[in-house]
Amino acid sequence: MKSNKSFDLIQKILITGGAGFIGSHVVRYFVTRYPETLIVNLDKLTYAGNLENLTDIEAADNYRFVRGDINDQAFINRLFSEHHFNGVIHLAAESHVDRSILNPMSFIETNIIGTVNLLNACRVAWGKDAANHLFYQISTDEVYGSLGAEGYFTEETPYDPQSPYSASKAGADHFVRAYGNTYNLPYVISNCSNNYGPNQFPEKLIPLIIRNITRNKPLPVYGKGENIRDWLYVEDHAAAIDTVFHHAKPGSTYNIGGNNEWKNIDLVRKICDLTDDLLDRKPGTAQKLITFVKDRAGHDLRYAIDASKISNELGWKPATTFESGLRKTIRWYLANTEWLKHVLSGEYERYYEQQYSGRES
Ligand code: NAD
Ligand code: TYD
Repeated sequence: MKSNKSFDLIQKILITGGAGFIGSHVVRYFVTRYPETLIVNLDKLTYAGNLENLTDIEAADNYRFVRGDINDQAFINRLFSEHHFNGVIHLAAESHVDRSILNPMSFIETNIIGTVNLLNACRVAWGKDAANHLFYQISTDEVYGSLGAEGYFTEETPYDPQSPYSASKAGADHFVRAYGNTYNLPYVISNCSNNYGPNQFPEKLIPLIIRNITRNKPLPVYGKGENIRDWLYVEDHAAAIDTVFHHAKPGSTYNIGGNNEWKNIDLVRKICDLTDDLLDRKPGTAQKLITFVKDRAGHDLRYAIDASKISNELGWKPATTFESGLRKTIRWYLANTEWLKHVLSGEYERYYEQQYSGRES
């Protein structure tokens, strides 16, 4: 898909899952900021991967897309023998908790086995020169389990995953550390809170609520809406990933968060009010659509990140306020109806039926 312009690039970075929500923002950030570095985006293009997320940078000289599956060890090995990657930023994953409850096996395959396949390829390709390389595992705060009303997850909080999704991410993180310890593979891991922003697949809470408001459909709130999440604007996460990739000591872990906790019901009401405002509708119109539905099985009550380590040691802080990030996000979904149409294939509509039909409580 690219011209065969020859390259004399100092660095090559492999970004996995670069056609997904966070991955596409990370690819854009690196391609734009590091024109001397070749960014190879490896993605299987599952239901969640969409190359339309990257149309603005796809012609850049320092960008390549490769379609492939991290579960395929032979393919991964070939890719690593074709390119000498200096670093890997690993985002490819099955990422939705509700899907992991319906089908845990694909999470074990991609999130654990896929990650180990990449670690194996790095080990072989980098050999004794591993010290000049880096494997960066993008993980989640969900590996720490669920908090009560008090306290925060720090980098020392023991892993205690509660869903098939978080168990698979925790398993992958353990393998990354085990390869670091056993084979001296240089790695870093960051564990981030819930992201929001443009290009998020509309199965996750914020885009699902915006989309349903525009279609005048019920806004499904699980249980009583008392669960709490800490929300971070996706571009702030991309900036944090850049900081960690370039400045963290190998073997270290950083928590990344927005210091921005919201009860689900309060967040849904906030999205309703902002969307009414942006659509010039009577205040209170969207809130009438709020519908409490059967709770998620094993629903974690609260996630909250203590992000003081990355702020004190590496100087990263979120730059986007929640009010401005949410407004930008809602405006983006209102303006990008074609994008929505394209990602909402028959497959997603079938999943939606399976997930929500008969769930009204
Ligand atoms: P996403 O579901 O939007 O994107 C995942 C991408 O991975 C898609 O492009 C998909 O095609 C690709 N992929 C899936 N299976 C693959 C396979 N077998 N081989 C190659 N590519 C494959 O996910 P996201 O929300 O952008 O999350 C990205 C990463 O960040 C994940 O590792 C996730 O665990 C982590 N994370 C997400 C959040 C969040 O709030 N979304 C928070 C913290 C950490
Ligand atoms: P989600 O966006 O799926 O992220 P995660 O489960 O990884 O935190 O969900 C965010 C919160 O919103 C979570 O507490 C579950 C809840 N939720 C709903 O209440 N209704 C919904 O339709 C969805 C998808 C999520």
